[in-house]
Amino acid sequence: MSTPHLSALQIMQQGAVIPVIVLDRLADAVPLARALVAGGVKVLEVTLRTPVALDCIRAIADAVPDAIVGAGTIVSAADVDASIAAGAQFGVSPGCTAQVLGRAQERALSILPGVSNASNIMTALEFGLTELKFFPAKQSGGVEMLKALGGPFPQICFCPTGGIDAASAPNYLALPNVVCVGGSWLTPAVQVREQNWDAITALARAAAAISRQPN
Ligand code: 3PG
Repeated sequence: MSTPHLSALQIMQQGAVIPVIVLDRLADAVPLARALVAGGVKVLEVTLRTPVALDCIRAIADAVPDAIVGAGTIVSAADVDASIAAGAQFGVSPGCTAQVLGRAQERALSILPGVSNASNIMTALEFGLTELKFFPAKQSGGVEMLKALGGPFPQICFCPTGGIDAASAPNYLALPNVVCVGGSWLTPAVQVREQNWDAITALARAAAAISRQPN
C-alpha cells in the first residue's frame, strides 16, 4: 500500500505521545497497533530490539492503514535499509551518527536521531536536521537541559524520550522547543504479554488527551 511521505516534523505533530514499542511475538503486532489507534494514538515506534520487530512493522504497515508505523532503535545503515524494506514510514535512533543520518537521507527516510548534548545537535545540523529525539531525556537533564539547549539552538524541535511517563509528559510538552514526547508507558510488557488490548487502548486514550499545561 502506498502511503504519503511525511516529514519528521509532520510525524511529530500527529500527537503528543509516540509509544515506544517492544514486541516479542509477531501475533501481537496488529492487535496492539489497532488498540493504540483506537485510543487515538497513530504514530507507532516499533523498536528493532527483538527478532520479530521487522516482521511486526511489516504486519502493521499492511493491516493497520490508520497507523503511521516507524522503526526505533536504528543503529546502522543496514537498519535503515531493513526498516524501509519492512514498510517503516519513519525511523528513530538512540544516537546521531553520520552513517545512519547519511543513509536515511540517501533513502529519504524521515528520521529522528537521538541527541543528548550540543555536539550531537551540531552533527544533526550538519545534515540539515532540526527535528531530534532528546534521549535519554530524564537521565540527560530533563526539562532544565531542554531549556538550556533552547538558547544556542532555537531552531531545534525535540521529542524527549526516556524516563517519561503520563505524570511528567505535560512538563516537557509545555516547553516551546518540545513538539511531542516518546515513552514505553502506553505498552507495558505485562499488558502486551496478556494481550490486554482494552487496557492499552485506555492508556492510549489518556495519552492522546495529555495537555500541554505543566503540572
Ligand atoms: C527508548 O528507547 O526511547 C526508551 O527505552 C523509552 O524509554 P522509557 O522506557 O523510559 O519510556
